Amino acid sequence: MGIDLKQHGAVAIVTVNQPDKLNALNTKRAEALLETFLKIGPDRSIRAVIMTGAGDRAFIAGADIKQMANLDRAGATAFARLGHSVARAIETIPQPVIAAVNGFALGGGCELSLACDIRLAATNAVFAQPEVGLGIPPGWGGTQRLPRVVGPGLAAEMILTGRRVKADEALRIGLVNAVHEPDQLLDTALAMAQQIAKNSPQAVSASKRLIGLAFAGHPAAGLSSEAHAFAAQFGGADQREGMAAFIEKRPAEFAG
Ligand code: HXC
Repeated sequence: MGIDLKQHGAVAIVTVNQPDKLNALNTKRAEALLETFLKIGPDRSIRAVIMTGAGDRAFIAGADIKQMANLDRAGATAFARLGHSVARAIETIPQPVIAAVNGFALGGGCELSLACDIRLAATNAVFAQPEVGLGIPPGWGGTQRLPRVVGPGLAAEMILTGRRVKADEALRIGLVNAVHEPDQLLDTALAMAQQIAKNSPQAVSASKRLIGLAFAGHPAAGLSSEAHAFAAQFGGADQREGMAAFIEKRPAEFAG
């Protein structure tokens, strides 16, 4: 019980595994999740990652409320910072991370899914930021990431009301890319991850980083970084191989 890491070829599957608590994250499990992503980052055998929850009811039902109930200010700051570190690790590792949301993604669970590059949902997925009903604002990045994904108005509605958003609405508002039957979610995520893993790892990680810059600061800064990173690929093995493969009408083989 904790965090499981399994590898299928070039794809790592990270599973939060505490189904009897709907995969709620206490400090211990959040730290283990952080360590797992920090371990994946430099591992060149991993080219794409899927994050999901164990069981058929929850992705992550949030931060552990029983633990939070007893925190003082210093403890709450540390717990918020820990969640921020997990989210930043997901965002800054070179490999894209797909959230396979297989049930409740509440509070911190919704927030960690927002740090992933792509969200796929099962038909039973439920997203919410219910923190205001617990007497706290979101603390693992929801106030900053949710507006970027669904826009400020919908984010405000979700955060200020705490209301639940089911899979069909999540799809409509762009919170998830697609909705699948629960028994097909992981296979679909795996197929997408495998497709990503076939591409140039350097180009994929540069693209991930650049997409992250789209909402950071003035667009001009992102565009300048884009031009720099784009040009930096030229003359490298992956750019040569990718373009040669197209011209020679064969699949590309990227060394990475
Ligand atoms: C601690 C949790 C939990 C959570 C579920 N459990 N969510 N424990 N923290 N976030 C535990 C329950 O206590 C219970 O344990 C077991 O999981 C099964 O849950 P039930 O409530 O019995 O299931 P059900 O009646 O089906 O209700 C499911 C649920 C409900 C609607 C998801 O569990 C719920 O509302 N959970 C809280 C969701 C939430 O508010 N999340 C946001 C937290 S704030 P026992 O031992 O009783 O069997 C947050 C802030 C992040 O995430 C920022 C921090 C800095």
